[in-house]
Amino acid sequence: MIKSKSFLFVAAFAVVFAAATVAGLYLDRKTLELPEPGEEWFDTDGRRINAHGGCILEHDGTYYWFGEHKSDTTHLAMVGVTVYSSKDLNRWKYEGVALSVDDADSDSDIRKGCIMERPKVIYNRNTGKFVMWFHLELKGEGYLSARSGVAVSDNVTGPYRFLRSGRINPGILPADFTEKDKALLDTLDPENFIVESVHDDNTPQWREAVASGLYLKRDLAGGQMARDMTLMVDEDGTVWHIYSSEENLTLHIAELSDDYTSHTGRYWRMMPGGLNEAPAVFRHNGKYWMITSGCTGWAPNAARLFSADSITGPWRQHPNPCRGKGADVTFGGQGTFVLPVGRQFVFMADIWRPECHSDGRYMWLPISFDDGTPYLEHHIIH
Ligand code: DGJ
Repeated sequence: MIKSKSFLFVAAFAVVFAAATVAGLYLDRKTLELPEPGEEWFDTDGRRINAHGGCILEHDGTYYWFGEHKSDTTHLAMVGVTVYSSKDLNRWKYEGVALSVDDADSDSDIRKGCIMERPKVIYNRNTGKFVMWFHLELKGEGYLSARSGVAVSDNVTGPYRFLRSGRINPGILPADFTEKDKALLDTLDPENFIVESVHDDNTPQWREAVASGLYLKRDLAGGQMARDMTLMVDEDGTVWHIYSSEENLTLHIAELSDDYTSHTGRYWRMMPGGLNEAPAVFRHNGKYWMITSGCTGWAPNAARLFSADSITGPWRQHPNPCRGKGADVTFGGQGTFVLPVGRQFVFMADIWRPECHSDGRYMWLPISFDDGTPYLEHHIIH
């Protein structure tokens, strides 16, 4: 009797849970105690959290939030990458500067006044090192250098030791380039195919040339451009570095070496000519999902959603994952990371405030699923 009663209880709970799951209701900000989007968010010392374009690493039962330290009047890196720790994703303790800009060596790639954006940190079990990758622009070059930087540490909170920066995979063609692709590449002439701006509505010939690798060819010898970026640790332990390349026109998905501090040379292109920034990736029910943004500087635009059965593609585009008021501008934010929490996912985004960069806000939204497809809503829950 007791047995059947508890069975009924478990069965009833399972039915309610399954129904709630199907309805996408099982995760809300309150369950996770996340702050309201755009609200000022203070650390445990009462100071505004300053960790933009960031990511979260869960290590030994603690969450670590890494992000760009932003100053009031400039987006240039005057401090470096900060790190905070938390047990509940809500109360964050400031742990200091994980990777500092270099104030002493004027030859350093990361000297004060460079641009350091979108740091992502992962842990390598085999080497016991924490590895940080970030988008780097050398001081005084605006956004022209388009490099990636890498740093390592024995401790999660740092200090991280800067290893090097550079363009990616010089001299190497994408892993899936066929003889036909190579023959097409041979016909392209980047030197004589200059356009004023890649954002303009350019000619069909130019768009075709971009898809065939116009900028890939231009940058082949020196290495591919890399701006907005993320890292993904795959189920088999392979780590993927995903970044906006080819003048932000095309995303590249590049494999990292076993120690995570360099590239193996194998990479794939995604959505050539699609102008995607801010990639954030996660895996759900055997599929890879990617949320990106368009390219409109600090101003928000509509998020894009893609899925694939393999991280190297082919990727398929879905409609805008945001629903409701503000969906056309991602509710004012731009994605930076998708955090898995148990069986659920949180979309982390920045609400940039270029008039006072340090006052940039955060928008963490639980991801719901509709028939397996992710979507985002911006409820204010009281
Ligand atoms: C959008 C990018 O996503 C940000 O990281 C930053 O690079 C801004 N553009 C700069 O305008």
